[in-house]
Amino acid sequence: MFESRNLFDTAIETINTERMEEQETRCLVDSIQCGDSAFLLKQMPNNSVDFVITSPPYYLQRDYNNKGIGVGHEKTVDAYIDSLLEVFSEVVRVVKPSGNIVYNIGDKYLNSSLLLVPYRFAITATSLYPVRLVNDITWVKRNPTPRQFGRRLVSSTEPFFHFSKGADYYYDRDSFPSKTKKVYQHQPSDRLGEKYRMLIQDSDLSQQAKKKAHQALDDVVREVKEGHIQGFRMKIKGIHAEAFGGQDGGRKIQMEREGFTIIRIHGKGMKKDVIESTVESIPGIKHTAVFPASVIRELIKLLCPRGGVVLDPYVGSGTTGVAAIKEGRHYIGIDIDPSYCDLSRKRIEECRINEQKKF
Ligand SMILES: C[S@@+](CC[C@H](N)C(=O)[O-])C[C@H]1O[C@@H](n2cnc3c(N)ncnc32)[C@H](O)[C@@H]1O
Repeated sequence: MFESRNLFDTAIETINTERMEEQETRCLVDSIQCGDSAFLLKQMPNNSVDFVITSPPYYLQRDYNNKGIGVGHEKTVDAYIDSLLEVFSEVVRVVKPSGNIVYNIGDKYLNSSLLLVPYRFAITATSLYPVRLVNDITWVKRNPTPRQFGRRLVSSTEPFFHFSKGADYYYDRDSFPSKTKKVYQHQPSDRLGEKYRMLIQDSDLSQQAKKKAHQALDDVVREVKEGHIQGFRMKIKGIHAEAFGGQDGGRKIQMEREGFTIIRIHGKGMKKDVIESTVESIPGIKHTAVFPASVIRELIKLLCPRGGVVLDPYVGSGTTGVAAIKEGRHYIGIDIDPSYCDLSRKRIEECRINEQKKF
């Protein structure tokens, strides 16, 4: 009896704690908090946000506020990585088990040699915290700062590291753009598959294998004509090079066993770990490292459910908040510089008014 009462009390306590945590998160949702994120994040409950996307200050690269406050002014690159990890450990704690984390980090030359800052961070983060590195997405800047170096090329890419807390992370693959050209831009021809029919006839396959190959070819041609798939390739033993990949124990085994294999092209296009965009600036506003809003919007759609909460612990000019509103998600932004907090709030408010006007 005594024990069951204890269990009951514990259950009630747990529910109360969860409710209090929920309330704490609700207070912060759709707000910009001014202060050091290493400190402010400690006040946020565990497992309370869906997605973190952020871009910490570069190491010794730019002074965002000209006052030397915040991350980026450390004496050594190791001390800089430690500062980033202090916040990252809190980020991992506040993200839900189904959540995602994206860090965009810039590199730095010291004595004409790259420090590989982003990779040092990713290696340490994955070794110290319970996260997996799902992708190293390369952001290709279409308009990098115009410079000419005598003995090196202009850096025009930056990584966006996608971490997850577990295997079951939120992922809306269909929302992500693919740029692969369609295989068939127009109606498939009546002669579709004829080339393969002749090759099957000319092959060394047995009569039975040829019959099976013709039937499989009829099926796949019909799938294309009915619009279920966009196209196909066929590989025939003794005629085409060995095939790799695929299901059913691998195409190589299939080709060996059946004498042929068919590769269906589903037309969804390949989703690659490369995002191209221009570097953005906000007219009349001096913030030297503004996120490209289009990239942030794509990643929010891919990695945060509609209505979910997106957190940016180095929110700067508020791009993450703006992108979240445009994609129907909530936001929490933190910045150490009061003038950037004001700027973020102003941009976000303007965005909200413009979005409301649309309805
Ligand atoms: C690269 S900028 C972020 C730019 C932002 N992605 C945007 O689109 O405007 C980094 C920001 O981190 C802020 N910052 C630096 N140290 C911080 C800290 N300890 N806590 C919170 N913000 C910090 C800086 O004030 C700066 O605005």
